[in-house]
Amino acid sequence: MSSTTVTTPRGGPGLEQRRRLVTEVPGPRSRELMERKRGAVAAGVGVSLPVFTEAAGGGVLVDVDGNTLIDLGSGIAVTGVGNSAPGVVEAVVEQVQRFTHSCFMITAYDGYVEVCEALNRLTPGDHDKRSALFNTGAEAVENAVKIARSYTRKSAVVAFDHAYHGRTNLTMALTAKSMPYKSGFGPFAPEIYRAPLSYPYRDAGLDGPQAAARAISQIEKQVGAANLAAVVIEPIQGEGGFIVPAPGFLPAIVAWCRENDVVFIADEVQTGFARTGRMFASEHEGIVPDLVVTAKGIAGGLPLSAVTGRAAIMDAPHVGGLGGTYGGNPIACAAALAAIESFEHDGLLERATAIGDLLLGRLHDLQQGDPRIGDVRGRGAMIAIELVDPLTGEPDAALTGRVAAACHAEGVIVLTCGTFGNVIRFLPPLAIDDALLHDGLDVVAAALGSA
Ligand SMILES: Cc1ncc(COP(=O)(O)O)c(C=O)c1O
Repeated sequence: MSSTTVTTPRGGPGLEQRRRLVTEVPGPRSRELMERKRGAVAAGVGVSLPVFTEAAGGGVLVDVDGNTLIDLGSGIAVTGVGNSAPGVVEAVVEQVQRFTHSCFMITAYDGYVEVCEALNRLTPGDHDKRSALFNTGAEAVENAVKIARSYTRKSAVVAFDHAYHGRTNLTMALTAKSMPYKSGFGPFAPEIYRAPLSYPYRDAGLDGPQAAARAISQIEKQVGAANLAAVVIEPIQGEGGFIVPAPGFLPAIVAWCRENDVVFIADEVQTGFARTGRMFASEHEGIVPDLVVTAKGIAGGLPLSAVTGRAAIMDAPHVGGLGGTYGGNPIACAAALAAIESFEHDGLLERATAIGDLLLGRLHDLQQGDPRIGDVRGRGAMIAIELVDPLTGEPDAALTGRVAAACHAEGVIVLTCGTFGNVIRFLPPLAIDDALLHDGLDVVAAALGSA
């Protein structure tokens, strides 16, 4: 491979949709920038793949050395509609030229209201709803908890094993995994309790209702419904390892919450907006959460998040109790409206399902000949493999790291996750084409073969 002169590429779907390496990965310019990063950026802010981005669109990302990488991560499930999707770019440019900020709490604007109307319409259930907008997933989760506490006048909150809800103080407390998310950052917010999840691959023989009964029994004994404001759960766990609970688990928890005046909060930050082949993952099991938290895919890459839910619950906090300087920023709202238009009218739900079928088919084939792939799971464009020692079934984080590193070196962006660090997850943009997916999976297969 030789280094070439790089003309600045434009992002969006105009980029050539083909993996092409012109230097080793990372190349010299990325390495130079990483050196500058080390001197300027706090060490705690890690980078999975030490490559600097020049442009991205469709299913590829072009780095500053001119390498075109296949994007199987979407910036952690954000660019569902594609990077620099034309509708999003146009909406953002138009909004930037009108005004960039007024603070919705000072003088309002229609984009904020329109996003709330869209969320009220799109989230599960046809009851009367209200929404509030924020900036990040963690901020929205925190606000969902505030709202639930205000409504129920109770304080305890239950989260689950393997949960990930963010990096702020309250969401660290809700998050299960210590390293790297929590270690050394305590003390954490009080009145957070943890319950066991349904994890079919590791839950010997427990079906969904049985796993729910186990969780409910623990909650009743260790917390007490009379003290419990909310249960917070990801319908498919993201950072925890793409764990899809056994059928019946989520509906049983929802039913128990309803009977016990406990607010059921679905954290759809990673699973929302067509990622799993439905607009929201809650729909796969027909559950209707009291509050739904969204972020990531909502705005095509601009920072926006939301809490949407039953009007009576959402309206419980007093005026001025919710908000923030930037929450529902007009540029992010314009981007969200364009992204939502694309989710609803560009066939992206069907595309996510087709991507899932392709990924599951290829990965199950790989699993047939490779007992290190303990489990293949997920829904739509949110699929993962769990890597284990075939003799003991123990998680193999070292193998997982080697496979991911080999994929990166060959120009395929894959992300790892899981409590045990042994899961490789596939979260491609829904704008990716089949040829790129096949090429990416060929690289994953080769990486497994050589690891
Ligand atoms: C399920 C879930 N909740 C919350 C968050 C936190 O979102 P953010 O990083 O935008 O704060 C994430 C981020 O990965 C997530 O996956």
